[in-house]
Amino acid sequence: MRKGILSLTAAAAAMTLGLAACGSDDADTSASSGASPAESSAAVAGKVGVILPDSKSSARWETADRKYLEEAFKAAGVAYDIQNAQGDKTQFQTIADQMITNGATVLMIVNLDSGTGKAVLDKAKAQGVATIDYDRLTLNGGASYYVSFDNTKVGTLQGEGLVKCLTDKKADKPIIAELNGSPTDNNATLFKNGYDGVLKAKYDSGDYVKGPDQSVPDWDNAQAGTIFEQMLTEQPKIAGVLAANDGLGNAAISVLKKNSLNGKVPVTGQDATVQGLQNILAGDQCMTVYKAIKKEADAASALAIGLAKGEKPAATGTVKDTESGADVPAVLLDPQPIFFDSVKDVVADGFVTKDELCTGEFADKCTEAGIQ
Ligand code: BGC
Repeated sequence: MRKGILSLTAAAAAMTLGLAACGSDDADTSASSGASPAESSAAVAGKVGVILPDSKSSARWETADRKYLEEAFKAAGVAYDIQNAQGDKTQFQTIADQMITNGATVLMIVNLDSGTGKAVLDKAKAQGVATIDYDRLTLNGGASYYVSFDNTKVGTLQGEGLVKCLTDKKADKPIIAELNGSPTDNNATLFKNGYDGVLKAKYDSGDYVKGPDQSVPDWDNAQAGTIFEQMLTEQPKIAGVLAANDGLGNAAISVLKKNSLNGKVPVTGQDATVQGLQNILAGDQCMTVYKAIKKEADAASALAIGLAKGEKPAATGTVKDTESGADVPAVLLDPQPIFFDSVKDVVADGFVTKDELCTGEFADKCTEAGIQ
């Protein structure tokens, strides 16, 4: 964990934080305070709006986040509206405006970049709407809460995972290519801080050789393919790929396949998508990072539901906004590395089903990996 970027101490975790700690960002909804939980859940006056970023940079947003958030809001009997901006910043703004006009009292966003995210958060706050940054912190955005994973740790796990796979392959002075996430996503910065922390030591000691290192705008998988193709043309001896998520990893794997290098060059990932897990089963991807999105959605929706009821829900810690210097009340969850032998853990956790994973050519691999 990098100091200065993230400060989730045990003391902070034990602390109970309320909206009062968030300055003027008061989310006073019309829900009557003092109602018993039973009464307030029967008639929740607030309404939650959620804006997801896109459906291409990762399968997670539509297949996991939407589903789990929906389930939680339905169970709580809270009115909600979940929309996807499909990577369009203007559309993001329009959706936010509509949600506020339609009476949202809580707005939860996954920003497309901090600048446009902040504009949306500012507008919401000006209207007395409570705000939650979901998964991505909006730098200088001043959201009331932030819910995510320990993203520096995600990166550390990716770096350590690549080291493990290269060690297993007995790679000698491997040249490493880095395919980073979107330069406008604060998470991509944190992931990179994490894996560069691991890889830099290897570069410094001369065990590994630093190769091409590039960010992929908007996490665009197609662009990632073009970028990696160029990397491999310029440096055909690339022997390890740190790809920041499963989509970027799959783009690199497609290029490696064309060059008959898949399975020889380990590639990392993140999100435990069906595609990423199948690439691991096939031996083309070295590892992924599983983030239990149900827990993330549950934590965020619990805050949103509390706010919609006019309560002051508690976070478990704080995260430092590196731009404003503010300590944002936060809930950060723990990511988990997944290799061939632990793909079964993701299935056991209910995040993917055996049916969707173990299709056709993957059936035998699933048996080999002990997937029940
Ligand atoms: C999320 C990742 C996701 C990526 C692309 C990041 O902010 O944390 O889970 O793969 O965005 O959507």
